[in-house]
Amino acid sequence: MPDMPDVAETTDKVGTGSTGAYAEQYRRSLDDPDGFWLEAARAVDWTRRPTRALDDSAAPLYRWFPDGELNTAHNALDRHVDAGRGEQDALLWDSPVTGSKRRYTYRELRDEVATFAGALRGLGVGKGDRVVLYLPMVPEAVIAMLACARLGAVHSVVFGGFAPRELATRVDDARPKVVVTASCGIEPTRVVEYVPIVRRALADTTHRPDHVVVLQRDTKHAELRDGELDWTTLVASARPVDPVPVAATDPLYILYTSGTTGRPKGVVRDTGGHAVALTWSMANIYDIGPGDVWWTASDVGWVVGHSYIVYAPLLVGATSVLYEGKPVGTPDAGAFWRVVSEYGVRALFTAPTAIRAIKRVDPDGAEMARYDLSRFRTLFLAGERTDPQTYHWAAERLGVPVVDHWWQTETGWAIAANPRGLEPLPPKPGSVTVPMPGWDVRVLDQSGKERPSGQEGAIAVRLPLPPGALPTLWGDDDRYIEAYLSRYEGYYLTGDSGYLDPDGYLFVMGRTDDVINVAGHRLSTGAIEAVLAAHPAVAECAVIGVHDALKGQLPRGFVVLKAGADITEEKLREELVAAVRAEIGPVAAFRDVAVVDALPKTRSGKVLRKTMRALADGRDEPVPSTIEDPEVLDRLKAVLRPKR
Ligand code: COA
Ligand code: AMP
Repeated sequence: MPDMPDVAETTDKVGTGSTGAYAEQYRRSLDDPDGFWLEAARAVDWTRRPTRALDDSAAPLYRWFPDGELNTAHNALDRHVDAGRGEQDALLWDSPVTGSKRRYTYRELRDEVATFAGALRGLGVGKGDRVVLYLPMVPEAVIAMLACARLGAVHSVVFGGFAPRELATRVDDARPKVVVTASCGIEPTRVVEYVPIVRRALADTTHRPDHVVVLQRDTKHAELRDGELDWTTLVASARPVDPVPVAATDPLYILYTSGTTGRPKGVVRDTGGHAVALTWSMANIYDIGPGDVWWTASDVGWVVGHSYIVYAPLLVGATSVLYEGKPVGTPDAGAFWRVVSEYGVRALFTAPTAIRAIKRVDPDGAEMARYDLSRFRTLFLAGERTDPQTYHWAAERLGVPVVDHWWQTETGWAIAANPRGLEPLPPKPGSVTVPMPGWDVRVLDQSGKERPSGQEGAIAVRLPLPPGALPTLWGDDDRYIEAYLSRYEGYYLTGDSGYLDPDGYLFVMGRTDDVINVAGHRLSTGAIEAVLAAHPAVAECAVIGVHDALKGQLPRGFVVLKAGADITEEKLREELVAAVRAEIGPVAAFRDVAVVDALPKTRSGKVLRKTMRALADGRDEPVPSTIEDPEVLDRLKAVLRPKR
């Protein structure tokens, strides 16, 4: 790995943009996508090497590497063992919540994956079949994901903080043959029993998986019922299987994400484009290669965990840390620095909320000072906007570059970042730096015209999207086109607004729709509204995301009672908070709901959520002239004003 240049050293390379390697590669990716991506594809092992990169024959549905064939688990494991890296650490599991640690070399991980793949095959899972994984942050989660990949089966991981109903929706959409879960997950304040959640979910689904596999954890065993199989028993009689080659365009996984409605979207990840894009990103964005220790402090249930805990670090032969704990409280605010120091982590990727949590408990960095961070080179942040205070605090205390970069479940890897491995660009606090190769980012006004630099608008990406981005939504091309490609013809709508500055740096300011980000977790206010609206005393409701100093945003609900509803406000609040926790999950962190006499609306009946959001965040927002009754908004102002 080359030493990273000082920020000052690179300043002259930027002006209206880099004149170095970044500018050259970016241009080439747009002018000659076939040449660019076929070259990047050489870093991947193919059972049939692609001769073409882009297939635009079904535009606007694009495919990458249409004649390529490969297996992702082979690329993540076997190829490194074959190349002599079998004894190198692949995965380091560190679990302060259970007091456990475990290391897996590439050879050990390959063998575990091959055997669990054999177990799944024994249950009838083959190429194209779906497997839903509802697991905590244990090595078996990584093993199960890679075992699916080995078989050419399609995994769909559901984050453990989601409640039974959310799990049920995903099971019904993905229609898995097998569900894999664990006896429990461990949160700092409680043990979360997963098996009852899975049972409740499956009692609600129309689709029935053939089997449920349960990993028993020492913290708490589950009593298994008929049809529920013990992981260890299953594996004991399983035979290892070889990787099954699949078409580059075959799905590797489905990952559900919140949209603007209550129905989550099944983002599809293809096999070839994903392997190529992630491999490119590790070297060129993150500056990580074989043997480097890399840590993504997220959860395998999110896209950040899929791409950068599991697939990308293993694709490039790095060592990936899997951490089951929190930034604070497990046991203290030094936990992250302990892990960085103990394993010699070269780069850490987490969400700004985690850094804010540490900063709140340890503002002077006393915990940090206890550890040797000399091997630590870069902090990468994503999932929500990095506020300048957090940026400066981290940069000053850690003395390493802090890189804010922007992406989404849909895109699978960064749309915009600072390409630290390719050409480190001078950072600008508040900016996610520049578009990555293949991402032709434009800022558009309502009519689809490009906005001049410095002016905010909808951020869109000219089609085709690069490899690694979603080719479609699971089983629903029409919904994909409708949700993402129909607002501006020829563009993918990101749902974020922002602007490009005169140097070509991108600033992402926030969502333009009803998606909110709570502690880096993406949620739909529409889904929370659906839960509130189902309460018998609620006539109508609105949920908005409001600023929160720790979690970035928190949901706030406003409900109007039905005439004659016989319930106290306090009781109603309690019931609504409990309902959101039970229906969506604790991760929604929904605690704040106010009873109001009416919601502000336009004359056509649309609730003025944007105006409410602005008022709640203490911003001035012009009130639309179409407002039905300005007095309703005036009355709401007292409730909406930011809480100090
Ligand atoms: N399984 C079950 N429950 C879970 C869970 C899981 N995998 N993850 C979170 N929860 C629960 C928590 O126990 C908590 O429940 P509670 O209301 O009973 O306390 C609730 O969901 C909210 O959890 P969380 O979002 O973790 O908030 P927190 O207040 O416990 O901690 C932070 C705040 C900032 C420390 C924490 O959110 C964090 O570490 N964030 C990192 C962000 C991240 O990894 N984002 C992923 C995208 S990069
Ligand atoms: P998710 O799909 O959960 O990764 O969430 C994606 C959304 O998170 C984006 O559409 C943005 O709204 C937000 N987001 C992610 N990273 C950033 C960032 N670096 N800056 C601003 N917003 C971000």
